[in-house]
Amino acid sequence: MQGDIEEILVSREVLNERIRELGKRISQDYAGKDLVLVGVLKGGFVFLADLMREITIPVDMDFISVSSYGNSTKTSGIVRLIKDIDINIAGKHVLIVEDLVDTGLTLKHLKELFNTRGPLSVKICTALDKPSRRKVEIDIDYEGIEIPDKFVIGYGLDYAGKYRNLPDVCTLSPKVYMD
Ligand code: IMP
Repeated sequence: MQGDIEEILVSREVLNERIRELGKRISQDYAGKDLVLVGVLKGGFVFLADLMREITIPVDMDFISVSSYGNSTKTSGIVRLIKDIDINIAGKHVLIVEDLVDTGLTLKHLKELFNTRGPLSVKICTALDKPSRRKVEIDIDYEGIEIPDKFVIGYGLDYAGKYRNLPDVCTLSPKVYMD
């Protein structure tokens, strides 16, 4: 696995520091409010697990699973709902927790979906952001770290189902997907 890595783009130390700051801000902003964190599977589960432990107010949580990539490094542009959330978000504040915002299509779709269910608010928190790749306009309320237009793996992010367990955000050696 190590041989497939080109370089470490964002180290676990840098991520942890930023997540601490985000957790603090979220705890202040949502104090006294009914907050539901919705992690976007599969990639977002690592970030959600780290982020929720930096939040000091009571929160509920759930997961939604969508797919837009298949086994490729390019998005298909079609967002397929694989698993919906189980809890009722009507009258609650929703914070979508995502690993990475790329084209923005997934989050635009999810925000629209949740907004049809009567929440008090729907906001977005992402660990990583690739703004240069955006295809649709989307407000990111809590942004972790901005990265360049490179395909990344690790910290929950995969290529063809692998590398999610790498603790740092790394670039994938082109030889892996050129073969
Ligand atoms: P978007 O809909 O184009 O914004 O893509 C969102 C999802 O695509 C992310 O949550 C990731 O799961 C996946 N994705 C986007 N860029 C990368 C990448 O560089 N590596 C791995 N997955 C990615």
